[in-house]
Amino acid sequence: MAVSDGNKCYQFPKDFAWGASTAAYQVEGGWDADGKGLNIWDTFTHQGGDRVFKNQTGDVACGSYTLWEEDLICIKQLGLTHYRFSISWSRLLPDGTTGFINQKGIDYYNMVIDSLLKNNVVPVVTLYHFDMPQAVEDRGGWNSEETVAVFEQYAHFCFKTFGDRVKLWITINEPYILAKYGYEDGVFAPGKSKKGFEVYQVAHNMIKAHAKAWHAYNNFFKIEQKGLVSIALYSDWAEPFDPNSTEDKEAAERYLAFHLNWFAKPIFVDGDYPEVMKAEISNRSKEQGLQSSRLPEFTNEEKIMIKGTADFFCLNYYTTRKIKCPSSENVPSYDSDRAAEGLKDPDWPISGIEWLAVVPWGLRKLLGYIKDTCGNPAVYITENGFAQSDPPTFQDLQRWTYFQETLTEVLRAITLDEVNVKGYFVWSLIDNFEWTSGYSVRFGLFHVDFNLADLPRVPYHSAIEYSKVVKRNGLISQK
Ligand code: BGC
Repeated sequence: MAVSDGNKCYQFPKDFAWGASTAAYQVEGGWDADGKGLNIWDTFTHQGGDRVFKNQTGDVACGSYTLWEEDLICIKQLGLTHYRFSISWSRLLPDGTTGFINQKGIDYYNMVIDSLLKNNVVPVVTLYHFDMPQAVEDRGGWNSEETVAVFEQYAHFCFKTFGDRVKLWITINEPYILAKYGYEDGVFAPGKSKKGFEVYQVAHNMIKAHAKAWHAYNNFFKIEQKGLVSIALYSDWAEPFDPNSTEDKEAAERYLAFHLNWFAKPIFVDGDYPEVMKAEISNRSKEQGLQSSRLPEFTNEEKIMIKGTADFFCLNYYTTRKIKCPSSENVPSYDSDRAAEGLKDPDWPISGIEWLAVVPWGLRKLLGYIKDTCGNPAVYITENGFAQSDPPTFQDLQRWTYFQETLTEVLRAITLDEVNVKGYFVWSLIDNFEWTSGYSVRFGLFHVDFNLADLPRVPYHSAIEYSKVVKRNGLISQK
């Protein structure tokens, strides 16, 4: 394993995991097939009202529920060693509880898992990727403490049902995005926005739910099944706008605290939120005349329960921001609490979606930061991608350059910074339903023609090139 000076030798470590990722709501379709229960994205998209580009929905999406074999062909064509997908909670448990189990849902995921294993592909399974069963939402969803136990029960059920074959588990995908977009900005399901309150409450319950699920595995399954459990954390890298400004440097630290460490610190370090988050939110809450901080507190017992509940680190990295300290007003809101404005450098190219400024080196910095602040964990980059806007080009050369540059940064992190990176997963295997952008944005390695009934998958240039990287477990010299 080395990155040589002449950029010739670009080998990745032996047994490096090469993957691609998807999520149930974004690819499966079959929204009401075979007894599946409603989830919050079904409800959200069916409400219309321009919540999503052209009021598109995931009702059909890529049809993976019936076209799984087509996805498998893509996976085999890439030669992936790992495939990450999520279970639709309400497909398995229509009302979210084990009171009623949908056998057809079990059959579907058994088929997916078994066919992956048969083809020597390791399944990496996310239990929850934004698609809360509507019935659980109706009982309070993540705002309610009761959901912690409901999630634990669901996780326990999945470990029991699939854990003889699944050895890499991710409990929750991106609690930051869920909390911020779903409960602060209100742009994702369930579309709530009581600013500065719910965002912290739901994150609090998600952290506890994750920790409980980890303990369920550890107590009941670990010895026999010998698997690993983690949580997928999304974070931008934060670079001070003016590297000589103390204010900007502190703002960049705050940005990371409110983004990555909000979750990483309790789970990987000490069971509690970053000090700066606690102090900022508590002071502001006081100034706002509130009796207590808008950031809930963990009890000592909870801190002990939460600390150390991840067996590896799952990082979803897409972009970087330059951080300025704004003159922020003190109103209850996450942005005001964070007091760190994230800007895109005009020199950074933008991929096919406006928030995704292309900054491959940010990933190396973030990996180094995780190594230093989270106890040098084994890291899987469980998502990384570059979007094309619709209509996309099959000769996606700019995108492939992005992947090459990003993988070079990963190699540098491994060889020069000694970060223990174990794997890399492209978001996404196939073009799919990109949340509020619907089908107008394409992240897939394979093109999906959403206008044709059989939803054919066709490789982009990047897919063909990625398969070569996977095969040789390395990059070819770019010189
Ligand atoms: C999510 C994916 C999403 C991707 C691109 C991630 O935050 O996990 O579901 O499609 O970003 O926006």
